[in-house]
Amino acid sequence: MKSVLFSRFFILLPWILIVIIMLDVDTRRPALPLTPRLYFSPYAGGRGGARPPLRRGGPGRGSERRNESGPPRAPPLPTIYAITPTYSRPVQKAELTRLANTFRQVAQLHWILVEDAAARSELVSRFVARAGLPCTHLHVPTPRRYKRPGLPRATEQRNAGLAWLRQRHRHQRAQPGVLFFADDDNTYSLELFQEMRTTRKVSVWPVGLVGGRRYERPLVENGKVVGWYTGWRADRPFAIDMAGFAVSLQVILSNPKAVFKRRGSQPGMQESDFLKQITTVEELEPKASNCTKVLVWHTRTEKVNLANEPKYHLDTVKIEV
Ligand code: UGA
Ligand code: MN
Repeated sequence: MKSVLFSRFFILLPWILIVIIMLDVDTRRPALPLTPRLYFSPYAGGRGGARPPLRRGGPGRGSERRNESGPPRAPPLPTIYAITPTYSRPVQKAELTRLANTFRQVAQLHWILVEDAAARSELVSRFVARAGLPCTHLHVPTPRRYKRPGLPRATEQRNAGLAWLRQRHRHQRAQPGVLFFADDDNTYSLELFQEMRTTRKVSVWPVGLVGGRRYERPLVENGKVVGWYTGWRADRPFAIDMAGFAVSLQVILSNPKAVFKRRGSQPGMQESDFLKQITTVEELEPKASNCTKVLVWHTRTEKVNLANEPKYHLDTVKIEV
């Protein structure tokens, strides 16, 4: 009798162990997807999630604490509005692709893409639809008389972006937000967005590969901007490129008349002309370790060689480039 009981027990033992292991695995399962979703899902942040832009520590760090008390609640992130003027040329889609690949990694970013065109193009419309980013697609053409070398570019497009922003926030009290002018051909590090997100009024930082030098930067003493390191027109009130500053949404809304002006404006003076309307040098907030780090580069794409492009379409298929 005893031996029968013993043999039954040994037959059942492995099954009991399997059931225990299965139950244990099941209870742990809900905690696991947190890590990949938080850290690797490419669109989670871009679609309005409050994912931090750059993560401290690797995946899994702090996950034990999370299991006990639930995920720590982050304060709502100010939205970054990036106004990008863009125009049709052979490299346009390549530039926009690089830009979207960067922006998609930034939490709570709203892209205001403004085409320099009389109507929205099919290429950009299709691109925006697949970009995986909250995006507002506007268009306004530059009048022909202003499309000349030596004249400032993208004045009307940046103003259209500003007008949209003011219109969108006309009724409600300003949500925390930061505006940044992101030309379509520059190169942006992800750190730059972390820096600009804490802008209170107007923040500034160095820009690489600009002004005929390796970089330009605001000179900072005791946490205040006191001058400019620049190789070009040091007499500019704000000797800074368009990629070198951000403005809080509150400042944009409380200065409803601040816009980019055509009249009397020269290339390279647009930034100063605009900033003069909303701030003073003393008020500027230096970012990027007191303006000692380059986090954005004024890269310019080489004009493509289309010397062998046939005059009439020869290929059997039509391909968007
Ligand atoms: C420099 C500054 O970095 C720009 O911010 C400034 O607008 C420009 O000078 C100027 O001269 O006004 P740069 O590299 O010379 O930049 O200018 P682009 O990159 O050719 O143009 C700036 C932005 O305007 C780009 O996003 C570009 O796509 C757009 N753009 C340019 C148009 O929308 N329409 C145009 O006809 C030309
Ligand atoms: Mn450029």
